Amino acid sequence: MPDQPRAAHPQLFTWEFAADPYPAYAWLREHAPVHRTTLPSGVDAWLVTRYADARQALADARLSKNPAHHSEQAHRSGRVGIPGERQADLMTHLLNIDPPDHTRLRRLVSKAFTPRRVAEFEPRVREITDRLIDSFAGRGEADLIHEFAFPLPIYAICDLLGVPPEDQDDLRDWAGMMIRHTGGKRGGVGRAVKQIRGYLADLIHRKRADLGDDLISGLIRAGDHGEHLTENEAAAMAFILLFAGFETTINLIGNGMYALLRNPDQRALLQGSLARGESGLLATGVEELLRYDGPVELATWRFATAPLTIGGVDIPVGDPVLVVLAAADRDPARFAAENTLDLARADNPHLGFGHGIHYCIGAPLARLEGQYAIGSLLTRLPDVRLAADPAGLRWRGGLIMRGLRDLPISFTPR
Ligand code: HEM
Repeated sequence: MPDQPRAAHPQLFTWEFAADPYPAYAWLREHAPVHRTTLPSGVDAWLVTRYADARQALADARLSKNPAHHSEQAHRSGRVGIPGERQADLMTHLLNIDPPDHTRLRRLVSKAFTPRRVAEFEPRVREITDRLIDSFAGRGEADLIHEFAFPLPIYAICDLLGVPPEDQDDLRDWAGMMIRHTGGKRGGVGRAVKQIRGYLADLIHRKRADLGDDLISGLIRAGDHGEHLTENEAAAMAFILLFAGFETTINLIGNGMYALLRNPDQRALLQGSLARGESGLLATGVEELLRYDGPVELATWRFATAPLTIGGVDIPVGDPVLVVLAAADRDPARFAAENTLDLARADNPHLGFGHGIHYCIGAPLARLEGQYAIGSLLTRLPDVRLAADPAGLRWRGGLIMRGLRDLPISFTPR
């Protein structure tokens, strides 16, 4: 039978796609919801784009997080996973392991990274947010990514981990090198990761001798109370907390503010509610921003360890599976008016923080930072506006994350 004519297959991973991947994801959801493609790195992988399939895949124990299960062993060349982590020996972290090791390490970090610790951290987030806004409020213009969204999470995570204030700018610079190079040259990333690795190993060593009230000390303490935690695991844990909580939060603030600046009605509703001292719309609004244009475009790598079927498609053993959170969260089968930003959306079980045993452990901190950052910007700079043509904005080209390189804003100086 001759092929049926159908709409052209969209180009994936181009610059146009990076600026707005949602039309291509809509096409995939409809015509090829479980789709095998060659990624820009040359690795072949399955993209899962429908909400129901995505949720199922994220919770499927046959999909391992351990890159050793990849049939191509592409992780040896650094083509899967976090750039630079392999040569710096940081592989044994939560996003690369399965039960029972995952269960043990997750329990351990949960003991140290408690909701109480995050709640106690609130004044510190307020202080960092205010200080950063103070630094540009008098100027009437700023680059929201470089001057605000980028430094806020790194200082917050450094504080939480117990990195002394005098070392935090070094970590900020190394972390900046890591994300500037994501999707580009690898050498700088490798060097930055090695520096972070060396620094964290040394910090863990120093903390062992002088335990404090910080998260790294909490990890060491939890490890000393019967649970097993090797030095490598402790360094990898500190690294993944830093890495997983850094670029993601930059993108929540960046993508979130961009979406609000482009949806003036919704932004006005939120400003009205903030002016009345209410917090409800800010809370549902941040969830909606996570759904509408979330920081993590594709969940991190998974590999089939047994034959399985997703959405009617058979996945061979050893194949990588990438769950496209950004596509699932705009699936009209789950979300009414899927392409509309609705800050008051009540029924919003988005997958922005993942699902299943790898669900984001930093979600309470991310929500705290996102709500403070966006609430403070809209309150302190009430007439903030976009100071660039949206078509000229540059998006970072990495595979997993979705975020702007810069976001110029202007406002009445305060
Ligand atoms: C896991 C999103 C902030 C630490 C995840 C996953 C997602 C995610 C989607 C699951 C990945 C997968 O299953 O492949 C986000 C978003 C954030 C954010 C959107 C900000 C808006 C943070 C923060 C931290 C953090 C602030 C810590 C300080 C982690 C860790 C994991 C994780 C350690 C691995 C958990 C595990 O494998 O058990 N995050 N995250 N994240 N996140 Fe976050």
